Amino acid sequence: MKVLILGVNGFIGSALVENLLKKEHVSIYGMDMDHDKIKEFLSHPRMNFVEGDITINKEWIHYHIKKCDVILPLVAIATPSVYVSDPLRVFELDFEANLELVRQCVQHKKRLIFPSTSEVYGMSSESEFKEESTNFVLGPISKQRWIYSCSKQLLDRVIYAYGVQHDLQYSIFRPFNWIGPKLDHILTPKEGSSRVLTQFISDVLKHQKIKLVDGGEQKRSFTDIDDGIDALVRIIENKDGCATRRIFNIGNPNNNYSIKELATVLLDTLKNYPFFKDKADKTIIEIVKSHDHYGQFYQDIQNRTPSIEQAQTYLGWSPKIGLKESLIKTLDYHLSHLDHSLA
Ligand code: UGA
Repeated sequence: MKVLILGVNGFIGSALVENLLKKEHVSIYGMDMDHDKIKEFLSHPRMNFVEGDITINKEWIHYHIKKCDVILPLVAIATPSVYVSDPLRVFELDFEANLELVRQCVQHKKRLIFPSTSEVYGMSSESEFKEESTNFVLGPISKQRWIYSCSKQLLDRVIYAYGVQHDLQYSIFRPFNWIGPKLDHILTPKEGSSRVLTQFISDVLKHQKIKLVDGGEQKRSFTDIDDGIDALVRIIENKDGCATRRIFNIGNPNNNYSIKELATVLLDTLKNYPFFKDKADKTIIEIVKSHDHYGQFYQDIQNRTPSIEQAQTYLGWSPKIGLKESLIKTLDYHLSHLDHSLA
């Protein structure tokens, strides 16, 4: 099976490579602008990597869409701070650039596995989001945060329509706050720009305050990357067509914690590491207003819990990894990779 992964050096792409290369029948063709997260796999005989940009290297991509069996376009901006600071870039990359790839999959009759997002459900008040029945609830146009959700939603609808009208073989997956090593760069140069777990770890390391936006009562269903990849591999394998033309929430309803709880569990866990303990003991938690932290174009989701019935039924998948275990894995990784620059 030839698998094309665009954005192969990303958080999901890099973890997927590690898993897929263990399967002897799989060859990977991957493009990304960087290769820092996959460098140990570059010389693998079934790994074919090229450095490039999906908005520029279009010929390579077109050729490989024709050549491969399964296409995963994983390139997207998925960081809320950018939705509000550069919404047009989010639209151009997440929607426009990906639409071209979707159309090529239709043209060449290729299987498409597309990353949607838990954000498509927006501010729905349902206690559990279901792929086929939950209404999507977004804020007004001035709340530019929703441009990401809206771009992804429209692509979901386009892909679905290509399935109905042109027989496109697709699977759509919706990650719910996947966390783990390699999520964002821990020492990101741009302050306050990472997703929450990386941001909090980075705050502790840099002796900064942990900021709870609007009090931190809002909840997320944190999902370990290994559980997420387990689901994704089942979708790629597509046993007896179980994933074809289906949408899957991939999230862990048992890890539905508030951001305030995340901060507390993280600080408690850090105290078990001699390297982090002192820094964690000294960390101050403060409450900030979203308006001050993200600006006026931000709006938040209070609760976001997936129904995972579809994934359980069709993929035989259930998440197994609890929040604490996931934090330990993430911290172990950062400790072994970054301590030299943080001491
Ligand atoms: C994320 C991103 O949009 C995507 O990565 C993804 O598609 C989707 O949701 C997902 O992974 O399911 P969000 O959950 O808001 O959105 O991402 P974070 O930036 O990690 O924020 C989580 C919560 O923590 C938000 O309520 C935010 O306001 C809060 N936060 C963030 C803080 O309280 N303090 C911080 O320093 C950073």
